[in-house]
Amino acid sequence: MPTNTSNTEPRKILVTAALPYANGALHLGHMLEYIQTDIWVRFQRLRGHQCQWIWAVDGHGTPIMLKAEAEGVTPLELITRFKHEHERDIAGFLLSPDNYHTTHSEENRELAELIYRRALDAGYIVKRTIAQLYDAEKDMFLPDRYVKGTCPNCGKPDQYGDNCEHCSATYDAIELKNPVSVVSGSTPVSRDSEQHFFALSKYTEWLKDWTTSGTLQPEIANKVKEWLDSGLQDWDISRNAPYWGFEIPDAPGKFFYVWLDAPIGYIASHKNMLDQSGEDFMQSWNADADGELYHFIGKDIANFHTLFWPALLDVAGMRKPDGVFCHGFLMVDDAKMSKSRGTSVTAETYLKHLQPEYLRYYYAAKLNAGVADFNLQLDDFTQRVNADLVGKVVNIASRCAGFISKQFDGMLAQDLPADQKAEYQKFVTAEAQIAEHYEAREFGKAMRDIIQLAEYANGYIADAEPWVKIKDESQRDDVQAICTAGLNYFRVIMTYLSPVLPELAEKTASFLNCELTLDAIESPLVNHKINKFKPMMARLEESSINKIIEETRESAADDAANASATGNQSVEPLKAEIDYADFDKCDFRIARIVDAQPVEGADKLLQLTLDIGNETRNVFAGIKSAYDPATLVGRHTVMIANLKPRKMRFGLSEGMVLAAGPGGGDLFILSPDDGAAPGMQVK
Ligand code: MSP
Ligand code: ZN
Repeated sequence: MPTNTSNTEPRKILVTAALPYANGALHLGHMLEYIQTDIWVRFQRLRGHQCQWIWAVDGHGTPIMLKAEAEGVTPLELITRFKHEHERDIAGFLLSPDNYHTTHSEENRELAELIYRRALDAGYIVKRTIAQLYDAEKDMFLPDRYVKGTCPNCGKPDQYGDNCEHCSATYDAIELKNPVSVVSGSTPVSRDSEQHFFALSKYTEWLKDWTTSGTLQPEIANKVKEWLDSGLQDWDISRNAPYWGFEIPDAPGKFFYVWLDAPIGYIASHKNMLDQSGEDFMQSWNADADGELYHFIGKDIANFHTLFWPALLDVAGMRKPDGVFCHGFLMVDDAKMSKSRGTSVTAETYLKHLQPEYLRYYYAAKLNAGVADFNLQLDDFTQRVNADLVGKVVNIASRCAGFISKQFDGMLAQDLPADQKAEYQKFVTAEAQIAEHYEAREFGKAMRDIIQLAEYANGYIADAEPWVKIKDESQRDDVQAICTAGLNYFRVIMTYLSPVLPELAEKTASFLNCELTLDAIESPLVNHKINKFKPMMARLEESSINKIIEETRESAADDAANASATGNQSVEPLKAEIDYADFDKCDFRIARIVDAQPVEGADKLLQLTLDIGNETRNVFAGIKSAYDPATLVGRHTVMIANLKPRKMRFGLSEGMVLAAGPGGGDLFILSPDDGAAPGMQVK
């Protein structure tokens, strides 16, 4: 942690956010990280520090290679297109990186080679021959995520090559039973090849020190300790051709694994930026460089940033981060983001319907320095933004502005009211605590303190009643002074909020005809001409949120239709053929859902009460991820009604409903069209 967090001596701070992959759009989950980063960076700049945010798109790896191939474009064309889309959304959400570069750049190639050579010279690169799964049809070695098969531990079919979703076992792809290549559908074969490993295991002791030196959040430090205690494996940093990335020097046909050059992309972005002004970027990256370096990342990529990355930097004689700031995952209405439910909202779709500052504020209001998941509760989002920003903050200005412009020709009073001078000082001194919260990434606490100031200001104006006093000629001066106090409070509040609401802060500065800086607010604005007030922020309309959800849902349906039209979907292999007689044993019935309830202690199940004409059935169905139970009541679906009842942990399940899904969790019940009635037989 920095020793100097005061406003007086400028700090030199480098900040990064994780580099988003160049094969997809930015979504509100990414934005949780990027808005958090932006607020922190803008706060540091507000305090007068030199704070640079160096950033880039992550352009290498198998998924990008395969996606480009599927679209019939080159990988470079693909990443260039996504880089531009990202840049549009970065601007749209008012993010202020100093550079948005790409990992597929000459700077990054040079730096990846440099760091690799230093590791090699230091004896930290070892070559080993290992057996890997090879897709003979596609002529490529298969990364773990591109093989599926039966878990060697528990026997569950359809698991990925790295770990089992059912029993959580981790294993080598080569250990899977009945492996299938996700790329071609063929059965992969085992093939030996020589790979380059970074000798991470030799770094165990060093990492034990480094990761307990205060650089990590306590939760992450604990997790890292578990990894370290269970023993570090050497890290395979090479991949065989065909691979989209940088070829390893003196190793034709071998490429750097994307996660080797991705974090080096931070440095490459810095170099790319400083080269333009002729500054030497290495001064900031040598082992003894001054200044501070912080990485904002999601908890899913903590291992890369707390183990591999510091070890690589160390072996290359470079500076290590002073902090790795992890955050949790975005949930929407308490559930994982889901395309089919319309909650996997892209930055683009959001921006079509809503202002970026609504989300920036909501994220700020609920963010803290921990790693717990973040819940974007849509009702609360609307309510919070309208109550705090529109109802409390902007309201101060709109209540005072009219009097000053209409009655006093835009002039603020000569002085604050006598009884508000000490109060104004309290607003000014509140900075210390608010700044401490911002610095510690306790944005929620900072927002709470700021909104308390706004509550005071509103209360003051309400009690002072300028709209009553203005009717009495003898109280005109009072009215001017009261409104001057109100607008000064507004100015201080908007200065404190400027890292979160940069656009509103700009509007405030032009309305008040002054700067919003921490130095400037030390003395109030008096005897000063302001500009005409224009409405600054409209209410957040719930209908806009509905449109966003609806549009996201529609585009998910389009994607699914496209995927099935191009045969681009992972399709389950068919089961063995059956006779008609077998089929005829099944009694499918139309069922009306009379009731649907969550099941305590079961993540995936809903308890359904089904009316099948002459009786009702109790059925447990694994469809919780796809439905809010309340929306199911009254709908029709199809069930198999003569299945032998099954005793489950939660009760007796009397049949099953038919459902289909894209795989991976979401399952949708079959919904018969109009005309269906409970009990009808399905043939
Ligand atoms: N390319 C790597 C990072 C390389 S950094 C040298 C990567 N890219 S990513 O696009 O998958 O994710 C970028 C960042 O966004 C990560 O920090 C990740 O944790 C974060 N998030 C992605 N989805 C998220 C949510 N749903 N919620 C919160 N953060 C999320 O990982
Ligand atoms: Zn398993």
